[in-house]
Amino acid sequence: MTAETVLYEGKAKKILATDSPEYIIQYFKDDATAFNAEKRAVIPGKGIVNNQISARVFSVLAEAGIPTHFVRTVSEREMMAKRVSIIPVEVVIRNRATGSLVARLGLEEGQVLNPPLIELFYKNDALGDPLITEDHIRLLKLADDAQIAEMKRLAQRVNAVLLPFFESRGLLLVDLKLEFGIANGQIVVADEISPDTCRLWDLQSGERLDKDRFRHDLGRVEEAYREVWRRVCA
Ligand code: TMP
Repeated sequence: MTAETVLYEGKAKKILATDSPEYIIQYFKDDATAFNAEKRAVIPGKGIVNNQISARVFSVLAEAGIPTHFVRTVSEREMMAKRVSIIPVEVVIRNRATGSLVARLGLEEGQVLNPPLIELFYKNDALGDPLITEDHIRLLKLADDAQIAEMKRLAQRVNAVLLPFFESRGLLLVDLKLEFGIANGQIVVADEISPDTCRLWDLQSGERLDKDRFRHDLGRVEEAYREVWRRVCA
C-alpha cells in the first residue's frame, strides 16, 4: 500500500480513496477483534484470505443477480468497490441457532431455524451494536420502510444462494452478517462476506471454521481461515 488517502479505518479494514469519487479500495488487515474490541489479535494472512473469499462470494452473488458493491480484486489484500453510504444496520440471517441468539433466548445450540431467522442490529460501536426492532430503526431514522424491506429481501436471497454454494464445498452456512450501502439510490450488499462475518461449520465433523475459533480460543485459527480459502477459492 502506498500513501493513499485513508477515508476510514475500521477494525478489520481500511477504506482508501481512488482517482474516482465513485469508487473506493477496501484494504483487508490481519487485525482481529471480538466482543466489541475487548479482545484483539493479529491473525497472520487473514486479510489476504478474507479479501479473496469476499471477492469470490460477491462474484457468486452478482451471477445470481444480487447487487453488491464489489468491482474487482486489485491486489492480494485489496478490492475495488463502489463508494456507498453504509446503512448503519447489521442484518444477521441464521440457519442454525448459536452465538448471541442462544445466549439471549436459551435455544439449543445448533437448532435448525426454518425459515431462516433474520435479526437487525444497530451498527454503533459505542453502544455495542445492540439488537434493534424495525420501530427503533424508524425512530432513529436509520432506514425507511422500503429500505428495511429491501434489506430483508436481499438477505434472504443472499442466504438462499450461499447455502448451496458453501454446502457444495463441505461447509454449513450457520449464519451471516450483512451490511448494505446505497449508491445512486440503489441498495447493494457491501462490506465483506468472510469467516469474520459468517459462521461456517464443516458439514461432516461440525468443526468450526470461522472467527469463533478466535472468539472462543479454540486454537488453529489461521488454519481454519486457510481451509475456507482452500475450499472456496483454490
Ligand atoms: P452473533 O451470534 O454473535 O450475534 O453473530 C451473528 C453473526 O454475525 C455471525 O455470523 C458473526 C457475525 N458478526 C459479525 O460479523 N460482527 C460482529 O460484530 C458480531 C457480533 C457478529
